[in-house]
Parts: sequence; structure tokens; C-alpha cells
Amino acid sequence: MTQQSQSACNGRVTRELSVESLLPWQMVTLGSGLMLQASCLDLRSEAAALQAEFAAADAAVGPAGRAFLASDGSWSTMALVQRSRLGVLAAGLPTPNLEHMPSVAALLSRSNWTVVGCHLVRQPPHGTLPWHFEDQAPYSQESRLLVPIHAPDGAETLIGHESVAYPAGMGWTGDFNFPHQVENPTESQRIILIVDVVSGPEVRRLLPPALMDKLPLRRALAGEARNRLLQWRASRSEPGFSAPY
Ligand SMILES: [Fe+2]
Repeated sequence: MTQQSQSACNGRVTRELSVESLLPWQMVTLGSGLMLQASCLDLRSEAAALQAEFAAADAAVGPAGRAFLASDGSWSTMALVQRSRLGVLAAGLPTPNLEHMPSVAALLSRSNWTVVGCHLVRQPPHGTLPWHFEDQAPYSQESRLLVPIHAPDGAETLIGHESVAYPAGMGWTGDFNFPHQVENPTESQRIILIVDVVSGPEVRRLLPPALMDKLPLRRALAGEARNRLLQWRASRSEPGFSAPY
């Protein structure tokens, strides 16, 4: 049994999962009191404008400007800012794709932050980005900020014991050191703008302090959750998974 709730303060939709449905790594955060994800009100964008710009980009960018790594072989990402080098925290390189999305270019031109990479990410109908984790969080060196462009009703992100679905235009972020999975069981594609930035004070001030609190506990629980996921994978002889961007 699940319960749907709408937070009036930030537009977040959180679906509370039943304890019986939780996987071992999801149990770790249950009752911890840790905030795992939150909206970034400074990143709120007009959904209709974003959708119009995405439509223009989608019509103009050919196969060479996209990666085709979705589970069904369809396109998965369009780089707007390409990482300069994997594993290096440096400003990325804008691509020609960015010219089709002027409001994103304006967002990225904030002079007080370092954009490591920026992508349009597509999840096809009935696509799942399986459980994984990466060292991206407001207390890590790098943060991932997300702005949904097309957010079909029913698509959601599981992180820890929570399931969330932010509406189109609502920027948000999370502690992605904890295992997370993205599910789109709908008939529509899901399109997200992701912005990877250096977690400097100029970024942290945009975010609720609770996303960075209780650091010893947070790090310990993230490690425990990751270990449980890795043990589960090993027990099933499943290969590791990394998001392709
Ligand atoms: Fe991820």
C-alpha cells in the first residue's frame, strides 16, 4: 500500500513506500531522519518555455549530437556541456546543441559557479535506469542539479526509502551517494535537464542545509546502503551499472 502526498512548500511529490516493498539498501535510510532530496527554488524554470526549447533541439540535433544508450537502443543523452575530462573537476566545454536552448545557456552563464557538464537525458517509455550511485551530493565535490522538462505522471526516482517525482520546471537535487533508481513505466518519454556543478558555497547556498547535515551518520549510512547493493549484485552475479553521463 502506498500513499501519495504533495508538499505545499516546494511542489515535491513524494510517494511513501511500504516497508514490505523496500530492498535491503532502501531499509538503511528508513527512520534516519536524513533529507535525501529537495527542491532548488532558484532553479525553477518556466516549463512551457523549456519544453519549446527542447522541441527545437530535438528537431535540429542529428544522430551525431546524441548518445544512443537507452535500454531499447534509442537516444539517451544530448550533451549541452561536455565534460572536459572524466574525473576532473573543471569547467566543461559547451557543445553546438546548447545553441538550441537559450534559457539553459542563460542558466549556465551564472558566473559564480563551475559547470562541469550539462546534458539532456531521455528515458524512453517503460525505461528503467537501474539501482546505482555516484559521488554527487552537496557535501561532495560535485553536485547534480536536475530540472524536469517532460515529467510524465507515474515516472519517479527512488532514492533510499523514498520515491519522488518533481514536476516539469521544478529544479531539485539529491544525495546521490545513496543508491537510486529511475523508473518510467509510462507510454511517454521522460526528459530531464541535468547540470553537474562544483559544490562550492555558491551552489550550497541554493540548497536546504538539511541536505548536508549529520555528515558522519550520512556518510556511514550511504556506505552501508552501497555495500548492501553491491552484495546483492554479487549474489546475483549482476554486472555493476554506471549511468552513461
Ligand atoms: Fe544517478
